[in-house]
Amino acid sequence: MNLVLFGPPGSGKGTQAARLKERFALEHVSTGDLLRAAVVEGTGLGRKVQDILASGELVSDDVVLELIREAVAKTEANPSLRGWMLDGFPRTMGQAQALGGLLREQGGRIDAVVVLEVDRKAVIERLSARRTCVECRAVYNLTGNPPRQEGKCDRCGGNVIQRSDDEPATISNRLDVYEAQTRPILEYYESDRVPIHRVDGGRRVDEVTSAIEDALR
Ligand code: AP5
Repeated sequence: MNLVLFGPPGSGKGTQAARLKERFALEHVSTGDLLRAAVVEGTGLGRKVQDILASGELVSDDVVLELIREAVAKTEANPSLRGWMLDGFPRTMGQAQALGGLLREQGGRIDAVVVLEVDRKAVIERLSARRTCVECRAVYNLTGNPPRQEGKCDRCGGNVIQRSDDEPATISNRLDVYEAQTRPILEYYESDRVPIHRVDGGRRVDEVTSAIEDALR
């Protein structure tokens, strides 16, 4: 099963993906995580994209398409996986069309798009309080789910920090970029008859997971 997890910044895509990947044996492919890892490792790619990520603008289509091509190929080569789950991709119409081309070449398809719907005020609150482990990428929230020891990851003991793009002005820009460049992709999938499941992402984490599982059953 191949899924696209869709929704504005802070709607809970990463939180839900961490649960769904085990449940459905899917490779979780987050372009944001891959780009941030490159920044932490200080690779050529990381140096190129660091300022773009911090501003909340989008990295060029060519760069993320290369990451997706590699991730999809890796999934195909792993027999224990039943498919992939894209998180944060596609984000522009160009990326959606390029993904369509890649899947046609490989005889693959998107089985479902899951859209997490959360209003703007709630995502601003969530992102302002989000903290992330630099080592294992576990996601916390100072309001609802803080680490037991301040600044330290419960899971691996790594440093828990605020992402550079979770500052108020950048959050607002990311939401505008989503409305202008990303949300219109849903019409493209609708016209292509890809099944779209809209889920109220404003509920408790467990309730959102159950609603997604029900939708995919
Ligand atoms: P990316 O990492 O993809 O960020 P995003 O889409 O903005 O999404 P987030 O990771 O911010 O939020 P999320 O929906 O995963 O929510 P989370 O689960 O963490 O992209 C970052 C940047 O990389 C982009 O701005 C761009 O520059 C670049 N980039 C990435 N992909 C690209 C692409 N394809 N093309 C071009 N550029 C690209 O949850 C958020 C918070 O809420 C957490 O604190 C969590 O604990 C909490 N929470 C989650 N669910 C709930 C709930 N149900 N109730 C209460 N709190 C909750």
